[in-house]
Parts: sequence; C-alpha cells; structure tokens
Amino acid sequence: MKSTDIPLSLYVHWPWCVRKCPYCDFNSHALPSNQDPSHEYVDALIADLKTSVELAQNRPLISIFIGGGTPSLIQPCELDRFLSAVSANFSLTPNIEITLEANPGTVDTEHFHAYHSIGINRLSMGIQSFNDELLKRLGRIHNSKEAHRAIQIAQETFDNFNLDVMFALPCQTLSELEFELQEAIRCQTTHLSFYQLTLEPNTIFAKHIPKGIPDTDTIEQMQDLVASTLESAGFDHYEVSGYAKPGRHCQHNLNYWQFGDYIACGAGAHSKITLKDGKILRQARYRQPVSYMQHAIRGSAIARKRIVDKEEQAFEFMLNVLRLRKGVALELISERTDLSLSDISENIQKAQNFGLMDNPLKRFVASDKGWNFLSDLQGIFL
Ligand SMILES: C[S@@+](CC[C@H](N)C(=O)[O-])C[C@H]1O[C@@H](n2cnc3c(N)ncnc32)[C@H](O)[C@@H]1O
Ligand code: SF4
Repeated sequence: MKSTDIPLSLYVHWPWCVRKCPYCDFNSHALPSNQDPSHEYVDALIADLKTSVELAQNRPLISIFIGGGTPSLIQPCELDRFLSAVSANFSLTPNIEITLEANPGTVDTEHFHAYHSIGINRLSMGIQSFNDELLKRLGRIHNSKEAHRAIQIAQETFDNFNLDVMFALPCQTLSELEFELQEAIRCQTTHLSFYQLTLEPNTIFAKHIPKGIPDTDTIEQMQDLVASTLESAGFDHYEVSGYAKPGRHCQHNLNYWQFGDYIACGAGAHSKITLKDGKILRQARYRQPVSYMQHAIRGSAIARKRIVDKEEQAFEFMLNVLRLRKGVALELISERTDLSLSDISENIQKAQNFGLMDNPLKRFVASDKGWNFLSDLQGIFL
C-alpha cells in the first residue's frame, strides 16, 4: 500500500442550526437568532486546517464537503475566506467537487448565488418531506411551500444538487411515500438520498417515541417502493440510501465508501489518514463548539487519536465498501489497508456459507440476500 496513491477528501463541520430537530443526533446545536459566530469559527477552522497540511503528503483534494448542522448559515464572505485558505494550503484536483449542506428554512437567493460564485459546485438540501403534516411531526423549521421555493433557487443556481428525504415517518402510509417520491422526481435533481428514519439514542424521539412508526413489514415495502420508483426514474441505486443520475454519484461519499482518506476540520469532525509508513490514523476533534474553537486557536483541536489495528481495519473496510451496491474490486483491500485477501478468507467463507456473498468471489460485494441483511454481513468481519 502506498499512502500517496490513496485519494484524499476534506470534511468541514459547522455545528449550528436554527433549531434542533427531535430526531437528529448529529453534532448540531440551536443558534440564538442574534448570534453569528461565522467569523470566529472560520478563524478556528483555518487554524485547525493548517495542522493537517503535513498529513496530506502533497496529495490533491478530490472533494470538499461542508456539512453540519446547517452550513447555509455561514456568511458567504467567511466561507470564501475559508476556501481561500484551503487553496493556499492544499492543491485541488481540477474538477474538485465542493458540496454545501443547506436547510430550506435558511435559503436566501443572494447567499446561494454568492456560494456558487466562491466555488461551491454542489448543493445538498435537507427537504425531509413535501408533506406539511409530516414536516410538523419532524419539528422542521420549514413547510412544503418554502421547500419548493428553496429547490427553485437551488435549480437556478446549481446544476448539481441533492435532496435528502426521510421515510418510515410517524403515521406515514405507502401512498404518502409515493407522493414524496413523485415530488422528489419532479424536482429533477442529479441525486437523491432517501433515509429511513432511525430512532437515535439521546434524541427526543428516542425518549418519547412518536406514535405510528411503521412496522417492519411496511418498512420493507417502503424500501422496495423507494428503490423501484427511483430506478424507474433513471436513478442508479449505488449505495444503501444513495441514488444518482448517470455520472452524478457523490464523489465525497464514494471516497468514504471506497475506504479513501479524509482530513477534517470543525467541531467533532473525524479524519482518517494513511501515514507514510502505511499505518491508518484516526483523529476526533473536540465536540463542543466553544471548546473546539478555543483548542483550535491554541494549536490543536484533536481530542482523541489512534492507530487502527489490523483486525479493526477488516471491519472498517467492509463496513464501508459493502454499502456500495456494486461493491469494490478485490485489489482494493491491499491498496487501502495493511491486509491481503488471505487475512479475511475465513470471514469470506462464512459469509458465502450463509449466502451473504457470492461464490466464487469476484468483487467484495453483497449477494442479493446479503444486501437485505447488510448489518449481519458486515458483522461477520468484526
Ligand atoms: C446532517 S443532516 C444535514 C442537513 C440539514 N441540516 C437539514 O437537516 O436540513 C443530513 C441528513 O441526515 C438525515 N437524518 C438526520 N437524522 C436522521 C435520522 N435520525 N434518521 C434518518 N435520517 C436522518 C436527514 O435527511 C438530513 O438531511
Ligand atoms: S437541521 Fe439538520 S443537522 Fe440541524 S438538527 Fe435538524 S436534521 Fe440535524
């Protein structure tokens, strides 16, 4: 394995939202309306970013993902200052993908034009639903009319954009999901992410489980409906929740799922970097935004770091690559980890015995049965 052959991405985390949604366990915090931490936060991001220059080993960045939280709250001039610091410290591939996450409740035409002009070339918008009643149940700050207006502005500004939609929502029926799918398709996006609602520990939904979460059989029918409808509409179902129009697969997420490297900056952000000697380093930053900013400005925002040992590498590799419907080539394991095929042959045999992977093994890919029992398959490599 040669570390400099491994593609490198950058993840940037913005930890604030207008309001905290009751189902969300991301590192995001409600921001009082009279506060705008853009300037001091970008100072911290730049200081943090500079500590990763050496780790990049002169590799160019293939993608940048500015996620959150709600990064569409960042002042465009501050984001411009940050992206200029990125270009000053790293080289970028000529067709680099730069994504910004946005919430339809925070969309402003001028801001969107400004984001585009400073180099953001992909937008990912958290629509969640086109149904006002469901949006209310999810505690969202926007209604469906605002969602459509935000989508129109996104369409006028970005030629590459994704919508996040959730399903298996409280009291949602199959015909309501059919409506969501038709609305999403009508928006003519290049990418759709359809996430099944999960009740994450330490969220309001986990403490007070909403009434009417669909049962397992209905959820299975919903998953099939999402996949068949979007495939018929010309989307490639390339990852568990990811659907792309031809050539519009998310390069940033693909790099995660192909076990590529990523540096990171921002509160709670994680990085995974292959060092010159082939060891894999994982770093986690301070989670609490104020504590993160203080540590970053003082010179190190890293709260924890560790080298991933060989056994963990097998699980981490499979956890990612098996999310891809077409899997990855067998060679990738020796190109991205310290392992060779023989190190995991027993686990592969077990997966084949259960029918979760095909025999003979041509790629690391789930069989049709393995795709339906993905966490069981991934668990074989623990
Ligand atoms: C980090 S959020 C960023 C998007 C943006 N902040 C927003 O919500 O408008 C990324 C996406 O994760 C999905 N998500 C968050 N919590 C979820 C949960 N508990 N179950 C399923 N999907 C979830 C939502 O679709 C959301 O748009
Ligand atoms: S707006 Fe997005 S990141 Fe913020 S709390 Fe809601 S789902 Fe989470």
